[in-house]
Parts: sequence; C-alpha cells; structure tokens
Amino acid sequence: MPADRSENEDAEFHALGDEGNRAIVFIKELTERDRPFLLNHFKALDANDRYLRFGSALTDEAIARYVDNIDFTKDTMFGVYESTLNIVGVGHLSLAQPEALPVLTGCERRESIAEFGVSVLAPARRLSVGTKLFERAVVHCRNKNIDTMYIHCLASNKPMLCIAKKAGMQIHRDHGEVDGYLKLPLGDKDSRRHETVEERAATLNYILGGKFKGSIDWLRKLFNPDINGKPKG
Ligand SMILES: CC(C)(COP(=O)(O)OP(=O)(O)OC[C@H]1O[C@@H](n2cnc3c(N)ncnc32)[C@H](O)[C@@H]1OP(=O)(O)O)[C@@H](O)C(=O)NCCC(=O)NCCS
Repeated sequence: MPADRSENEDAEFHALGDEGNRAIVFIKELTERDRPFLLNHFKALDANDRYLRFGSALTDEAIARYVDNIDFTKDTMFGVYESTLNIVGVGHLSLAQPEALPVLTGCERRESIAEFGVSVLAPARRLSVGTKLFERAVVHCRNKNIDTMYIHCLASNKPMLCIAKKAGMQIHRDHGEVDGYLKLPLGDKDSRRHETVEERAATLNYILGGKFKGSIDWLRKLFNPDINGKPKG
C-alpha cells in the first residue's frame, strides 16, 4: 500500500481490485446518462483539487453549470466506475484551438490538438488510475487522428507532472505553470484493438457491477496481451 493511503481508504477502495499497488482499472467512455455521476465526482473534489483541475476553486453551482455544459458530441469523457453509482476517476479530452496555445518548437499550428484534464478522488489516488486515464486518452487520440495531446497544470502538481513525464511529454515551464505537449503517432490496427478491448471490458465490468473484476481482467489480457504495457507507437 502506498505510504499516504490509510488502511481505511484502502478498504474503501477494495472495489477497484488490486495488483499490488496497481489497481485493476476499467475505463469507460462516458455518455449523456453518466452526467449525474460526473456531477457527484466533481463535487467530491475539495477546493484545492478543484483549483488544480479547473484553475479555480469552483463552487458547487459552477461545477453544476460546467457539467451541464459538457457536450458529449464534441468532447470525450472517460470514467473509472468504482461501483455503478460512483466514478472515482475522470479524464476529459477536448479539441483545442492550436492558435490559442503557447507556441512551441516542433508544433506547427495546422496540427490537431486535444487538451486533457483529469481528476481522481483522493481515496483512489496513487493506484495508477490517473496514469491509465492518460494512456487511454492517448490511444483514443491516435484512433481519432489527433496528433498532439496537450496538458496545462501548475508546476507544483507533482502527480500530473509525473504522468506527463512518464508519457514523454515535451514540458515547458513558465511562471509556476506548465504546458505539456505529446506528439502522437497515427492510430493503427493494434491501437484500435486496444481501445475496443478496453471499452468492452469496462462495459462488461459496469454491467456486472464490478463483481468479477479479476475474471474480466483475465479476459481482456487474453484479447490484448499489451494491455498493461504502454500503448505501442
Ligand atoms: C493528478 C491526479 C489525477 C493523479 O491521479 P493518481 O491516480 O493519483 O495518479 P497515479 O496513481 O497514476 O500517479 C501518477 C504518478 O504520480 C506519482 N504521485 C502521485 N501522487 C504523488 C504525490 N502526491 N507526490 C509525488 N508523486 C506523486 C505516483 O507515484 C505515480 O508515479 P509512478 O507511476 O512513477 O509511481 C490526482 O492527483 C488528482 O486528481 N489531482 C487533482 C486534480 C489535478 O491536479 N488534475 C491535473 C490537472 S488537469
């Protein structure tokens, strides 16, 4: 168990399953019907987490407006359900206007860029949920012909920077803030299979209420032996 997780927190999140310190994580693409659970997820973030995630400590009312305004036809939301009612991790991909972002060497403006934002509820942290949401977003972007992923966070946000660096992002620091860019290879047969297997496993896990995590995980590894490694590319 990681040092900053208490016994109680560990018991509370047993539903994520466990492979040592890496949870068995199923990531599901969210739709309109997940909106109420997204609202609960964001409202469960404390003021500091809201600041880190949204750039300001949004009130509950502002969060409700934010969730109401999510356009699932434009943005892609990913969720990690701990049970059928509780989303412990959310990844958000939205297309960004390249001209609105800081100019960086090696990134031409004609490129298609998606901004990635992520949040994981405090008791479910340090179980690689954030990392896996990032990896799923990478595969999704590749399959949608998006060639660059972008993140923006505070330079003091150690876990986010850790995720970005592990992925090989090009990091730029300016006045205590960080912009990160990751150039992505085109999607291929493997990346499409990877995403399909992930989505089916997550849907099955959701339908079964998270009761057969181990068996579903075994099945997904059978269909996609690379599932625990970095997506190819
Ligand atoms: C950023 C966040 C999503 C990370 O979620 P997570 O599920 O805990 O992340 P992971 O478990 O995948 O950890 C990622 C890495 O950061 C490291 N890490 C996690 N918390 C850390 C901390 N407090 N200090 C230093 N490193 C930390 C982990 O050890 C891991 O590194 P490793 O793979 O080398 O072991 C989560 O902390 C969060 O929701 N924060 C509030 C919102 C936010 O900051 N969003 C990012 C800006 S959009």
